[in-house]
Amino acid sequence: MAKPAIRFVCAECGATHSKWSGRCDSCGAWNTISEEAPLSAGPGKKSLGAARGRTVPLGDLATEDAPPPRMISGMAELDRVLGDGLVEASAVMVGGDPGIGKSTLLLQAAASFARAGSKAIYISGEEATSQVRMRARRLGLADAPVKLGAETNLRNILTTLEAEAPEVAILDSIQTLWSDTVDSAPGSVSQVRACCHELTTFAKRSGTSVILVGHVTKEGQIAGPRVVEHMVDTVLYFEGERGHQFRILRAVKNRFGAADEIGVFEMTGGGLAEVGNPSALFLSGRDAPAPGAVVFAGIEGTRPVLCEVQALVAPSALANARRTVVGWDSSRLSMILAVLEARCGIPFIGLDVYLNIAGGLRISEPAADLAVAAALLSAREDVALPPDMAIFGEISLSGALRPVGQTENRLKEAAKLGFTKALAPAGSKTGTTAGLSVQQMPDLATVVGDMFGAG
Ligand code: TYD
Ligand code: MG
Repeated sequence: MAKPAIRFVCAECGATHSKWSGRCDSCGAWNTISEEAPLSAGPGKKSLGAARGRTVPLGDLATEDAPPPRMISGMAELDRVLGDGLVEASAVMVGGDPGIGKSTLLLQAAASFARAGSKAIYISGEEATSQVRMRARRLGLADAPVKLGAETNLRNILTTLEAEAPEVAILDSIQTLWSDTVDSAPGSVSQVRACCHELTTFAKRSGTSVILVGHVTKEGQIAGPRVVEHMVDTVLYFEGERGHQFRILRAVKNRFGAADEIGVFEMTGGGLAEVGNPSALFLSGRDAPAPGAVVFAGIEGTRPVLCEVQALVAPSALANARRTVVGWDSSRLSMILAVLEARCGIPFIGLDVYLNIAGGLRISEPAADLAVAAALLSAREDVALPPDMAIFGEISLSGALRPVGQTENRLKEAAKLGFTKALAPAGSKTGTTAGLSVQQMPDLATVVGDMFGAG
């Protein structure tokens, strides 16, 4: 049999190359390519062509299968993000920046599962058991029947899991695990890939649900990226701004539920507290009307979330004025500035623009366009909008406003929180929402003229 060729894999994008180079042709990153040992067939194994396999049973599409059994943790925010509980025999990856609170979240989840009657094992590769116990005591979880271990060798971990047969196994983190079948350092692409593959296979085979923790690189990808996202059933990101107490658990991929669903937590001295009504939390601390601050009625997953969009516009001392965005897409901001300039005659040349989504929330919906434009206008013209007005709508390059999905849910949430006015694109299906007067505008120029008297 021919010797399998050695491959070189980029740790950033996962592209494979036939030879080493300093820079990855595929993503342009430097010093990310490393050698990866080929997958060998192993001693005694024949090539696929030589031995016949067994016939795979085939069914038709109409066959009705029972829905997959799920375990409820009792942490409502976590259960919702997973799609109404953790599916048995599934593999879940929880990614996030170091220090964001992944270990805290999963220790609390382990305790919740254990208290709800599922057998839960927590294996830490990063901390000693004494450290984890200390944290558990501080979080008031010491009495939960969780089994705790500290190990990094995958072979030992799998042997333990086989023997214990838990319903939930939490492994913190995938980057610390190493498999002795792979000849490279823990945390390298080939190790992460091999360990993840072994563990997902174990989950399917044994019925244990495996939850893996993964640290994310600064580019926002799980280190040894992409190579594991496709292997697991569910990928959750735990995100939040450092210095803010809010943490958001976001489903970016879920074979058993809606992607883009979020769970909201608050980091407190006693661990992560669930936030059942995020809108109230993101809007807390608003009092007097302030120029540059508007409320966006957004949808996160299946849930409406109201949050504050803040803008600051100030004369720039720089040749290239600053554009700083936190919590939103910076190219989308450039687009809105361009539309304001080209379609409404409001230039931002020579002005620094800062845009912030309050509370550490990250928004990706185009429905926030109109709220962002309103915040920018309000900041630039120094005109405060009514504090009880909720805004949403997509802006097209022509300056026209386009209706967005789930209009009624957005309005209902706004009314529930005591808002009395809403600004929406013309043609929105508003339904009837008691106590809320909805202004519908056809384009951005009308908004500028009507609300800011400019343009
Ligand atoms: P941790 O779960 O260790 O983060 P990760 O596993 O993602 O690296 O959380 C670390 C941070 O959380 C740490 O900076 C302190 C903070 N924290 C609290 O504020 N309250 C708490 O009760 C706990 C346990 C941690
Ligand atoms: Mg940790």
